[in-house]
Amino acid sequence: MKVDGRHTRTLWLEPDGWAVGTIDQRQLPHRFVTVRLETLADAAEAIRSMLVRGAPLIGATAAYGVCLALRADASDRGLATACETLAATRPTAINLRWALGEMTAAVGRLPVECRVAAAYARAAAIADEDVAINAAIGRHGRALIEDIARRKGGAPVQILTHCNAGWLATVDWGTATAPIYQAHDAGVPLHVWVDETRPRNQGASLTAWELSQHGVPCTLIADNTGGHLMQHGLVDLAIVGTDRVTAQGDVCNKIGTYLKALAAHDNGVPFYVALPSPTIDFAVVDGIREIPIEERGAEEVTLMTGATADGRIETVRIAPAGVAAANYGFDVTPARLVTGLITERGVLPATREGLAAAFPERAGLR
Ligand code: MRU
Repeated sequence: MKVDGRHTRTLWLEPDGWAVGTIDQRQLPHRFVTVRLETLADAAEAIRSMLVRGAPLIGATAAYGVCLALRADASDRGLATACETLAATRPTAINLRWALGEMTAAVGRLPVECRVAAAYARAAAIADEDVAINAAIGRHGRALIEDIARRKGGAPVQILTHCNAGWLATVDWGTATAPIYQAHDAGVPLHVWVDETRPRNQGASLTAWELSQHGVPCTLIADNTGGHLMQHGLVDLAIVGTDRVTAQGDVCNKIGTYLKALAAHDNGVPFYVALPSPTIDFAVVDGIREIPIEERGAEEVTLMTGATADGRIETVRIAPAGVAAANYGFDVTPARLVTGLITERGVLPATREGLAAAFPERAGLR
């Protein structure tokens, strides 16, 4: 997508052809800063510290992290250390483990001297595939938005989204935002309600920023607003992303997604989840019991970071010093609350049969 009119992906090879460039998302929307990753430790720290975040981007960054690691040590031990180090960064998004599996399959059986080139080729393909998949998600999801637009006779389609499942969370396009960008670019009138997404505020700092950069009309709302808007007929559909979808269609996504799905169900608002197939974990069935939920530091809840009027980024305390705080990063929305899964192969029912029919080659892995 475009930043200040220039096309930008979230991940690229630097001009030297081996270091990896990315955007420091911790500094948005205040500063657009790019960063150079040169080592396995750089890539692992970028994921752990959420300099990069979002399930598909975490996966692609991990793939390049393996490349950087193999430059230093392409032995079996080097490959294993790279995968262990990267896998330990964040627990919930399955794309990370998927990408490490892909990298191991691509290089593990090759002679040591061939591994670096093969790793860069596979990492580049993973990044390019992510862009193509998200573009396809955009085409399928756009049709849903166009249908509603037709029914509304030209009034803007009101879409609610949670967290950031935008282009910043992927290599390009985003998942939940791909249908929005494509519909907007095709001239469909729409407006997006952007949940702020406490505690890290990915909606406020990232989704609101990228939609605004693209000229998509949007309004930032406090996290608890969605139910009220739905009760008053102000939301036509919700589209969110996901970090892991189970074999039976349960959806794990940023904390608070479940409450939006409940409110949508109670108000008859369609609740869609957009995902690339690497986000499906066919090895897991019951999302509530089986998906590991990341627990992050209490300071993300008790402190808030923002910019002062003169542009300095500052962190302030918003709770009493020493108060206990819990910080669960994700929750699971049961499949029964999901209207449909928007994938690169079409809009599927959130059921075991729906997923297995669309992705038989992956479903057989269980
Ligand atoms: O903790 P984050 O910012 O990595 O969480 C991101 C999300 O929950 C996204 O909605 C999800 O990864 C889907 S991204 C296309």
